[in-house]
Amino acid sequence: MPKITFILKDGSRKELEADSGVNAMQVAVFNNIPGIEGACGGFCSCATCHTYVESQHTPPPMAEDEDGMLDGVAAKRNRKTSRLACQIMLSPELDGLVLRVPEKQ
Ligand code: FES
Repeated sequence: MPKITFILKDGSRKELEADSGVNAMQVAVFNNIPGIEGACGGFCSCATCHTYVESQHTPPPMAEDEDGMLDGVAAKRNRKTSRLACQIMLSPELDGLVLRVPEKQ
């Protein structure tokens, strides 16, 4: 089971265990991580699951639709670390992944 840590807006950290094959947004929503809404259910059409990758992990490559959605949050986007949590499918390779929740979605 990969472990994933969310850094919350107040700076506190919440470490969770997740099943492989679920995405990081699902883990956040199921565990009531504040600031991750997942309004579209993971269909890459709302950007309410925007996070910053804080660990050295390399999540699966970004698809064009995710890139376009992140352009919609351009003011908050960090070109190197912004990802939509719903597009990060968890796997053993991502064990220890750390995602920071942005101040605002
Ligand atoms: S949950 Fe809507 S884009 Fe990720």
